[in-house]
Amino acid sequence: MESKIKVKDPELGPSRVDGRLKVTGAAKYSAEYSVKGVTYGVLVGSTIAKGTITSLDTRAAERAPGVLAVITYQNCPEIPGYHTPDQPAKGPLKIFLDNKIYFNGQPIALVVAETFERALFAGSLVKAQYNKDDHQTDLKNNLQNGIAKGKDYVRGQEDAYKTAPVKVEQEYLLPTEVHNPMELHAIIARWDADNKLTIWDKTQGVKSTQRNIANAFKIPTENVQVNAPFVGGAFGAALRTWPHEIAAVAAAKLVKRPVKLVLSRADMFTSVGYRPLTWQKIGIGATSDGKLEGITHEATGQTSVYEDFTEGVVNISQLMYASPNVNTKYKVVSLNVNTPTPMRGPGEATGAWALESALDELSYALNIDPIELRLRNHADTDPLSGKPYSSKFLKEAYQLGADRIGWSERRQQPGTLVKDGWLVGYGMGAGMFGAYRSNATVTARLQADGILVLQTAVTDIGPGTGTAMATIGAEVLGVPVEKVKIFLGDSSLPPSPTQGGSQVTSTVGAAVFDACTELKTKFKALEGGANSNDYVQLLNANKLPQLEVTTVSKGGAEMGNYAAYSWSVHFIQVLVNPVTGVVKVNKAVSVADAGHIVSPKTAASQIKGGAIMGIGMALMEEALIDHRYGRLVNNNFGDYHVPVQADIPQVEALFVNKPDPYLNPMGAKGMGEIATIGVAPAVVNAIYNATGKRIRELPVTPDKLI
Ligand code: MOS
Repeated sequence: MESKIKVKDPELGPSRVDGRLKVTGAAKYSAEYSVKGVTYGVLVGSTIAKGTITSLDTRAAERAPGVLAVITYQNCPEIPGYHTPDQPAKGPLKIFLDNKIYFNGQPIALVVAETFERALFAGSLVKAQYNKDDHQTDLKNNLQNGIAKGKDYVRGQEDAYKTAPVKVEQEYLLPTEVHNPMELHAIIARWDADNKLTIWDKTQGVKSTQRNIANAFKIPTENVQVNAPFVGGAFGAALRTWPHEIAAVAAAKLVKRPVKLVLSRADMFTSVGYRPLTWQKIGIGATSDGKLEGITHEATGQTSVYEDFTEGVVNISQLMYASPNVNTKYKVVSLNVNTPTPMRGPGEATGAWALESALDELSYALNIDPIELRLRNHADTDPLSGKPYSSKFLKEAYQLGADRIGWSERRQQPGTLVKDGWLVGYGMGAGMFGAYRSNATVTARLQADGILVLQTAVTDIGPGTGTAMATIGAEVLGVPVEKVKIFLGDSSLPPSPTQGGSQVTSTVGAAVFDACTELKTKFKALEGGANSNDYVQLLNANKLPQLEVTTVSKGGAEMGNYAAYSWSVHFIQVLVNPVTGVVKVNKAVSVADAGHIVSPKTAASQIKGGAIMGIGMALMEEALIDHRYGRLVNNNFGDYHVPVQADIPQVEALFVNKPDPYLNPMGAKGMGEIATIGVAPAVVNAIYNATGKRIRELPVTPDKLI
């Protein structure tokens, strides 16, 4: 069938405004700044998972060449924020507070030395003795200890799937995944005065980091300057302020010199969160013609003993399909592990892995094409709130993707399509994520040299925020995008939200739109402005050096009447070697309904990156703990596998590219999360189609297929 949707060529649109700086190395990441008198910190981690430190011998480390300090719970400068009277019972790890150990790898010392190598060597000399307690690190053995989080959800009748004519009831396991962005988390902390501080920090939010550091050290917020003009990926790992950042700031106070702390790749596995290992059970039932009668979704994820991390794992089952009966339960189990944190598509990516697998299983039980099954249960209004959608073009997305992958070649009978000795299979999975808009402030200035300057505090962690903002500004004012200069990732700039939750293009883009519209109005009001768009000539004629506005932009109140989501559909063709069980992803097509696509090139990269992450989730990623010691065994890139070039085909990114009429003036919706939500089940569903083997425990390594 021919698609009737016109697609904007994803190769059109401006290239990355920071592309040249990045590929030439001119873009500086937080650890790359030369700060006068800088010293180097290295963390030392515990080697037990639970207990107390009984003695800590730091003498050899302190005497080692070039060492300035060994900071432990015994000598760490007081962190006043740890001692305010309103401390909750559970919360973020308070680094170097006392001798208690909650997880293996928990920092017990920070060595500061004149060079990194000397700090690293001295770290090896720190000797700890422990009083060890029995630890628990295995979720599968502790499912009975789950504590319910949030309210159980019931729509219609509970467990209605049980009495449906056709049903599937299965369990799905997602292992722990670690964000592992290319850029290691790093901070340089420099005290400029007793209560004044500059940091160069890997963070997704300079304003939130500014607040968190100020609160921890009880200094005025404006006295903390946070710089993060370039961020080398994050995926959620830099959403919050972590203990190592507090430790570096405390250390700089102690040694009275700037301290640079770059986490090692191994530290990244225990210091900056992860997508938690999660057990799920889905019961799903339908009439014999494929109308859903009920979905029951239970999930239990792991968290640390000192802090509860929760995410919306089961929400997608409440939202995605028009089932009259849905009930969900969500629990967490406290284990001797570090606290998880949001990772791209937090909750929904985990939930979609189970839901979209179960739906695929149901499609075979019904002998109905998986796309057809989804169309028969398409939600025309939001099943949770009953509200109309602000926009939803999911049906178009199914069609676009099916056409592009060649879905008509798929065989309904698994294991029957063979090419050159490889089993061929097709699979699909869908995703959704809330489309949001919050508040942001943007300064827009048109200068006499013709340059449009845009300033706002938001960080660009890689999705192309700067490029999208420059594009919006250029379009509103009708100037070439090459004439736009954008400044971001700096806490002294006008406030913007943290980069996260797929809301930055909508929120900050709207603020850029508003500021540039206001600027345009100001030009119109100038002498001669009514008849000219030549801003430079207008400035000159009116003897003005520049024209500038600062605009506060807020989310639209009318959104209360609508349910706003972005949608995605992912199509995968796999080749499976029947002898070795090796899986090759041969084709990947991801389609997004993300409203109007503001910046096609960076948007396509965003979608491709999400697909690659989902392929990694399906086939490779798994952080493994040796439960005898409660210690991670694959905390490095040799043993923790992520996809490399050779694992990934040319991923095609397609967009429905129809504006959302309500969310913001551009009609844009977010796409950071939906890029990865639904990809992993699409891969696993394709493997089933190729082999007839249903794998319900990720990742699908070859041993599970032979
Ligand atoms: Mo994200 S998990 O929106 O950084």
